[in-house]
Amino acid sequence: LTIEIISTCDELKRLVSGLKSDRKTIGLVATMGALHEGHLSLARAAVSQADVTIATIFLNPTQFAPGEDLADEEIYPPGFSTSVVPPKIAKRLEGEFRPHHFSGVATVVLKLINLTQADTAYFGQKDFQQVMVVKQMIEDLNVPVEMVVCPIVREADGLALSSRNVYLSQEQREVALSLSRTLDHVEAQIGAGLRDGFEAITEMRQMLIDAGVDSIDYAILANPKTLKTNDPIELPVVALIAAYVGKTRLIDNRLIE
Ligand code: PAF
Repeated sequence: LTIEIISTCDELKRLVSGLKSDRKTIGLVATMGALHEGHLSLARAAVSQADVTIATIFLNPTQFAPGEDLADEEIYPPGFSTSVVPPKIAKRLEGEFRPHHFSGVATVVLKLINLTQADTAYFGQKDFQQVMVVKQMIEDLNVPVEMVVCPIVREADGLALSSRNVYLSQEQREVALSLSRTLDHVEAQIGAGLRDGFEAITEMRQMLIDAGVDSIDYAILANPKTLKTNDPIELPVVALIAAYVGKTRLIDNRLIE
């Protein structure tokens, strides 16, 4: 395995054009650093499928802040002013709490796909709505890339891997386990025949509160294609949670088929 580290768009373009003329396939793993086993699972999938894997580390400011503070001149040079209006699905859930988030994500992902000329791009199911947004953008804008979605990677006790887990104290980590436990519980209940969406969601919220989460942005059951809540529950359904443990915002989800 040869590894090359590059840090400018020009170097990247040169590298990519060489790979393209050698007819190599390119896999893209876009990250914001703070790498964990979840990212590595994407990288492993890319390495096994593409001739060359390009992993990018870019802490994209536009998906966090309102967008004025474009600190990185390599990706956002002076005068940069174009951005992707993400598909409608972006307005729900995360979009309600982080209104600029998905425009920032869609824009940078499109830039990274363009820069790397990737044939395949790897994303984690952990960011369920991000997967939907990127998939729809790729379709709507005819972006010539194939999206590959990889399963959520969890700790042995069920906690979904996240760069934010390092912020959790030992006590908070226990509380954080309530996200995956709530998903286990609702999945089991639906498996046992529960179809009352209101009852299921009320119980999800109660479980999280009882475990000690500090606040819940959402804990819902939704249609996995539209993210609209679905009551009575129809399968497949996706259970999605975003909640704060202390100051740390955690998300998790489960597709129930
Ligand atoms: O999922 C992430 O880490 C980011 O949203 C991404 C896809 C790297 C874009 O900045």
